[in-house]
Amino acid sequence: MAETWTKTGWRSKPRVQMPDYTDQAALAAVETQLSKYPPLVFAGEARKLIQQLGSVSRGEGFLLQGGDCAESFSDFSADGIRDTFKVMLQMAMVLTYGAKVPVVKIGRMAGQFAKPRSAPTEVQDGVELPSYRGDIINELDFTPEARIPDPEKMLRAYTQGAATLNLLRAFSKGGYADIHQVHAWTLGFTEGEQAAEYREMADRIQDSIDFMASAGLTSENNAELATVDFYTSHEALLLEYEEALTRVDSTSGKWLAGSGHMIWIGDRTRQPDGAHVEFCKGVMNPIGLKCGPTMTSGHLKSLMSSLNPENEPGRLTLIARFGAGSVGEHLPRLIKAVEEEGANVVWTCDPMHGNTIKSSSGYKTRPFDSVLREVREFFSVHKAEGTVPGGVHFEMTGADVTECTGGVRAVTDEDLSDRYHTACDPRLNASQSLELAFLVAEELSDRAVKKRAAI
Ligand code: PEP
Ligand code: CO
Repeated sequence: MAETWTKTGWRSKPRVQMPDYTDQAALAAVETQLSKYPPLVFAGEARKLIQQLGSVSRGEGFLLQGGDCAESFSDFSADGIRDTFKVMLQMAMVLTYGAKVPVVKIGRMAGQFAKPRSAPTEVQDGVELPSYRGDIINELDFTPEARIPDPEKMLRAYTQGAATLNLLRAFSKGGYADIHQVHAWTLGFTEGEQAAEYREMADRIQDSIDFMASAGLTSENNAELATVDFYTSHEALLLEYEEALTRVDSTSGKWLAGSGHMIWIGDRTRQPDGAHVEFCKGVMNPIGLKCGPTMTSGHLKSLMSSLNPENEPGRLTLIARFGAGSVGEHLPRLIKAVEEEGANVVWTCDPMHGNTIKSSSGYKTRPFDSVLREVREFFSVHKAEGTVPGGVHFEMTGADVTECTGGVRAVTDEDLSDRYHTACDPRLNASQSLELAFLVAEELSDRAVKKRAAI
């Protein structure tokens, strides 16, 4: 009989990537405070998302997950939330058109504040300081004071998460997500020769919307056209924060991580006997698991059995992030491990984290071509293996930033300094995100054709 899981059990396991708070009394006070606050999400929502992801695992849906690498306190604004939400809806519309199945939309929003780092310290001009670990932990400024982990920041993250989720709920259900509002996207995406194909697809989508309207299907008489389900997600890295927001669901008696709908385990914190896996094991939310090049078949099998012992479809999403040119080397062995176990998983592709480079101008960037190539490789491996490519996971923003190079409105190395605003990794801007959605839609129409042929 397995030991009973508790929300504090992670504390006795090895932990990595978490801050050492110096003021334990201040930490305890914040934890007490947070544990009295309402959870941000409700268990019924997590259950519904698991069901929808279950459909995705069978190829009856497609997952679009996206948002900031790291949300920041200083960039917090209604416009920022609206713009990212809007681009995700636009992308979802394009993807729905390609895949001919519903698109499950999950933002990296309302809680994506804590960051794992590749090095514990950072050196600038010969000065070495602890690394920045996200606004929920310390500050980006390069001063010794700014880099001290401060537990009080958890309270601000909670407040910002609550306000973000509140606005997302208002947009999702209050009329902003109406299909007739969202279609205005075609206007902003009509430049350049390469855009001609997309324009054509956009016109066809517009025709479908017009056709539905003339057949009497409008948002006034059909709630499906006027509202959307939009979920939140983040990496469950700062376990003191996660634990404090974990509550029992009175309907099922199960534990819910109340910090967001879906939480994921990062590529650096997925040790099968580590603290992060221990925490995620016992909560009922859908769980994501980043799979990088060092993931072995053995680790994956052990993680699948501890994170999803009942093999529930939709509970576990494997987020592959190998880098362009490396998917063929790693993905087949992990697909084999999943197939050998008969495991139900959602396979999704994060083409961002394996493709970060330093540009000639010194900025951390990601070439759009590498991002696109990794997505294509992901689809082609799944095609060869006969498995389901279930979704995509992007670092993106609705703002017109210049952080990733390339795309139809080509961002060059020299342009990077113009609008480089990310607190952490480089994000796709609105135009690059939409372009990628069109390209993924092309891959998906292939999947749709295959599915229809199989019926
Ligand atoms: C992230 O998603 O921001 C991240 C740090 O990813 P990974 O754990 O895959 O490196
Ligand atoms: Co990132």
